[in-house]
Amino acid sequence: MRYNTSMKNLKNALLLKQLYQLKQLGYKYTSVTAYKDEEQDFTLPNTLKSLEKQAIECYLCELSKSRHKVVFGEGNQDADILFIGEAPGATEDSTGKPFVGRAGELLTKMIENVLHISRNDVYITNIVKCRPSNNETPTPSQAHTCQPYLLKQIELIRPKLIVTLGVTAYHYLTGDDTELSKVRGTIHKQNDYTIIPTYHPSYLLRNPSAKKEVFDDLLKVKELMAK
Ligand code: URA
Repeated sequence: MRYNTSMKNLKNALLLKQLYQLKQLGYKYTSVTAYKDEEQDFTLPNTLKSLEKQAIECYLCELSKSRHKVVFGEGNQDADILFIGEAPGATEDSTGKPFVGRAGELLTKMIENVLHISRNDVYITNIVKCRPSNNETPTPSQAHTCQPYLLKQIELIRPKLIVTLGVTAYHYLTGDDTELSKVRGTIHKQNDYTIIPTYHPSYLLRNPSAKKEVFDDLLKVKELMAK
């Protein structure tokens, strides 16, 4: 999705939130002129630190009601490789860090044993920054509301390569709903960045035989990084 569309989603979500607040205060009517675009500053901060601060204070979707911690992302702010997963799970929700549960341990091994770099050298984040209850797949509305944060992270980190983990990350980032088995390991160019989709580590925990494919995809990542 383009950044402009994504900003529009953020504006709509903010507007909706303001209207709910007014409703709670007892308002039955309000003037739409109060919400003219130019009267609001919707620009997101230009540093990851302030962006994270804004995300931590975000209540734009229902995931904010049940989360314990916002899981913004972590790693090298100048990383060449950005990994994008789906959504925080229980361990991530309680620690505020991405990919620290079982799937996270596997991701760390993949980074260290195949790419031969440290996990601290890359940046890791998710499509949505708050845990969906019962680990459900984020809804399109949740993903779109959260997308401005992700797009701004990409803009600030400017990675050479984005590796999407699992079908949800690939689908929400690119809008392409081709089966993951058909696109994994291929290069997808979008705006001025390059995406390589691969399987999610949680999928590998359930289907260890797919590790070979992920190994091949990461070798491709390694090859591209060496260029
Ligand atoms: N799965 C994800 O997609 N992201 C996490 O941070 C953890 C598990």
